[in-house]
Order: sequence, then structure tokens, then C-alpha cells
Amino acid sequence: MIIALDGPAASGKGTLARRLAAHYGLPHLDTGLLYRATARALMAAGERLDDERRAVEAARGLALMDFDEDSLRGREMGEAASVVGAIPAVREALLEMQRSFASRPEGAVLDGRDIGTVICPQAQVKIFVTASPETRANRRALELARRGEKVDYAAVLEDIRKRDERDSQRSSAPLLAAADAVTLDTTALDIEGAVKAALAIVAERAASKV
Ligand code: DC
Repeated sequence: MIIALDGPAASGKGTLARRLAAHYGLPHLDTGLLYRATARALMAAGERLDDERRAVEAARGLALMDFDEDSLRGREMGEAASVVGAIPAVREALLEMQRSFASRPEGAVLDGRDIGTVICPQAQVKIFVTASPETRANRRALELARRGEKVDYAAVLEDIRKRDERDSQRSSAPLLAAADAVTLDTTALDIEGAVKAALAIVAERAASKV
């Protein structure tokens, strides 16, 4: 079974993806890490984030050691990932890696922006996870504070709005709910409530597609 979770920044899709993967014993790929690691490689080499040729090289050159999650989760890297993610050739360079992950015999859980629309249009279960920008900014601010980053709520909200706009307006694989995705609004839900709702969606989808 392939479970595709898409949604904007800090909607809760990452947490839900991890929980669903653990529940069903499936491997999980957080595809945002691919874009974050590409951005970090460019920055480390002193290259511009919008240099298409260098960005594609960075995406193609990603190695397992580039996925040290902690250093990729910061505020700056999310914004930088959104910039490289707007380059169609970078998306193309990262496509096969994601499809091959999804093609494991047991299935997989992937979360990102274009999983249900581009990477795995055949996924049995597609969930579009969303929440109000203010709720997402609150969650992201808490998460950054826990990481020890200095946080200014207004700046985090501004980041979220900017990222929503860039991710939704780009020409290639914009953030979009697939036509057959179920939308899960987590604004009024805590983590356990959101997990319960997601499990119910998966159960319903899995039953209807047998
Ligand atoms: O999910 P995240 O916040 O880690 O993603 C960071 C950025 O990476 C996001 O703002 C846009 C880009 N991204 C993307 O374009 N496509 C994906 N499948 C995942 C992330």
C-alpha cells in the first residue's frame, strides 16, 4: 500500500506520515529532506540557490550522509528548500529516487507537496493535510524553540505565508490536492486526534479499493 501525504509547511503531514508508517510497518520518506539537503549542498558550496545547473548537480549528487536530519530542519533551510524546489530540473533530478522508494513491494508512506499528483499518482491512499496559517506558525514556532532556535512568531508566520505562495504558484508540480485526495484539516486537532482521523481515512480507502 502506498500512502501519499501532501500539504503545506507545518500542517502536521510529517508527524502523520511517521505515525502511519509505524502503524502499518511501512518505510517512510520525508521528501522535504531531499530539497532541504539539495539547498544545503548549494549553500555549503557558496552557490546561488537559483543557479539551475549547480542545483541539479547538487540534487544528483546527494548521498546518504547528506541526510543528517537535525541540521536540515532549521528555519533557513525550509525557505531555501522552497527556492530550489521551484526549479523544474531539480524536481526532475529527484523524481526517480522518490519513485523507486515508493516501488518497494510492501509499499511506502511518502510526504511532500506533489506525492499524490506527480510522484505516486497511483497511490491507494492520498491525504491532503492542511491547517490555518496561524496554527501552522504556532506549531513551527514551538518546534523551532524546542530546537533552541530564537523565534519571532510574526517572522515565522510570514515565512509560512511566503512558502505557501511560492510552493503553490510554481509552474512545476505546485502544492495541490490530487483530485482523489481526502483533505484532513488539522487546525482543531491535537496529534492524537489527527492520527485517529488519518487512520480512519486509510482504513476507508484501503477497504474501498480492494
Ligand atoms: O516539507 P518541508 O517543509 O520539509 O519542505 C521544505 C520545502 O521543500 C517546501 O517548502 C517546498 C519543497 N518541497 C517540494 O517542493 N516538494 C516536496 N515534495 C517536498 C518539499
